[in-house]
Amino acid sequence: MSKERFEFGKNWESFSPLIDDEAIAKAEDRMASFLGTRDLSRRTFLDIGCGSGLHSLVALRFGAKEIVAIDVDPDSVATTRAVLDRHWRGTNKSVRHLSVFDLGGEGPGEFDIVYSWGVLHHTGDMNRAIVMAAKQVRPDGLFGVALYGKTRYCNLWKRIKRWYVNATPEQQAGAERTYIRLFGFYLLLRGKRLSKHIAGYKHKRGMDFHHDVRDWIGGYPYESISPAELARLLAPLGFELVRQNVRKRSGLFGSGNDEYLFRRRGASGIATRRDLPGP
Ligand SMILES: C[S@@+](CC[C@H](N)C(=O)[O-])C[C@H]1O[C@@H](n2cnc3c(N)ncnc32)[C@H](O)[C@@H]1O
Repeated sequence: MSKERFEFGKNWESFSPLIDDEAIAKAEDRMASFLGTRDLSRRTFLDIGCGSGLHSLVALRFGAKEIVAIDVDPDSVATTRAVLDRHWRGTNKSVRHLSVFDLGGEGPGEFDIVYSWGVLHHTGDMNRAIVMAAKQVRPDGLFGVALYGKTRYCNLWKRIKRWYVNATPEQQAGAERTYIRLFGFYLLLRGKRLSKHIAGYKHKRGMDFHHDVRDWIGGYPYESISPAELARLLAPLGFELVRQNVRKRSGLFGSGNDEYLFRRRGASGIATRRDLPGP
């Protein structure tokens, strides 16, 4: 039987022992530059697709009043619970086994910050997931989202990822080795060394290279979006862009996550359901 999704949770479970002080510090730096602050005191924080729980932990360390972390994968949920229990003693945390599609979406949102990094393009219905996540943001709240950008290789990668999730563990390991070899060769052509790239990898959100390679090759379902498409989707819900980090990439070795921070206008500026685009 054909598998429909990558088991992200198993990858996060095997990554989680690598979460040390250095990884946490790097993740803090990245979230601070993404949100523009290290002070989340008095704010509620919803982490959609929490994965390892590292970023929920950062929100707690930044003083969030309460965090709710959700993930559709039971192994991600268990890993996040274990990571938070290990690194955070407070009770202002809740980790739930929920899909973004299970979140209510009618009333005004209740969270000061909704954060979803590298998740909504893996749900199988990205646009609906983006709208559902955005609806959880309260008026004047923030929506921080990272999504794969569009490249000319998106269709090719979609096919590779679909193959990978149905491949044997040996085939998957072979695909990862091939990717790393080709990537190393690509770096060499640019006068860079793979070993140095891997050694410096914690500088990127506290992740490690090999788990990220697996997450990239396996990450299916897969979709991507342009900045203009995202802005069009969110404008009727009353969102305006605060800042974005959109990089131009070839996409040969990965689409890369473009980061966007939106603010939801105050209650009077939020569109009613009737103003929203049809199903
Ligand atoms: C690439 S990981 C990103 C994890 C984390 N946000 C980070 O930045 O490290 C994607 C996560 O989204 C979760 N996910 C996929 N579809 C989901 C859905 N419909 N609802 C909630 N989480 C979902 C996966 O299980 C996985 O843990």
